[in-house]
Amino acid sequence: MISPQFISRVTLRRDIVESFDAYPFCLPSVRTFEYLDMHPKVTYVVGENGSGKSTLLEAIAVSMGFNAEGGSKHFNFGTHRSHSDLHRYLRIAKGFRRPRTGYFLRAESFYNVASEIDKLDAEPVDAPRIIEGYGGVSLHHQSHGESFLALMTQRFTG
Ligand SMILES: Nc1ncnc2c1ncn2[C@@H]1O[C@H](COP(=O)(O)OP(=O)(O)OP(=O)(O)O)[C@@H](O)[C@H]1O
Ligand SMILES: [Mg+2]
Repeated sequence: MISPQFISRVTLRRDIVESFDAYPFCLPSVRTFEYLDMHPKVTYVVGENGSGKSTLLEAIAVSMGFNAEGGSKHFNFGTHRSHSDLHRYLRIAKGFRRPRTGYFLRAESFYNVASEIDKLDAEPVDAPRIIEGYGGVSLHHQSHGESFLALMTQRFTG
C-alpha cells in the first residue's frame, strides 16, 4: 500500500558504501543501519552524544532538498561546510502526498539562518522581507527562546 506519510522509510544503500571504516559510515549507528521506518505522527531519534543522530537527520534533510544548515528549501547558504556525504547513500521512500512547505529546524545552526534572513532582507529587491513571515523582528534582536517562539507561532502557521 502507498503510504499517506511524506516519508515512510529511510534506507541506507549499503551495497554502494565503499568502506564502513571511514566517517560517517564508521559511526556505530550508521555501521549497523539498514532502514528506519518513520512513525505516522512523529519519529524520535534517541541516543548518546556523538552517536550519530544529527549526522543521520542532516543526511535525510539534504536528501529531501534542504540546506544542511537549516531553514526552508529556499535557503541555500553554507557558513561552514561540515555535512557528510551520507545523503548520497540514502533511499527515501515517499508517500503519494507532497508537502506544500517544509522546514529543517536545526538548533545548532539556527543563528546562521537568522543571519541569512537579515542578509537577504538587506538586498535591494522588490519583494516582501523574509522576516515578515517570522513576525517582522530580526531573529537576532530576540532571545534564543523568543526567536524559536516567533518561528513556531509566525512561520509555522496551519
Ligand atoms: N566532519 C566530521 N568528520 C569526522 N567526524 C565527525 C564529523 N562530524 C561529526 N563527526 C563525529 O561524528 C559523531 C556523530 O556526531 P553527531 O553530531 O551526529 O552526534 P549526535 O548523536 O547528534 O550527538 P549530540 O547528541 O551530541 O548532538 C561524533 O562523534 C563526531 O565527533
Ligand atoms: Mg546532535
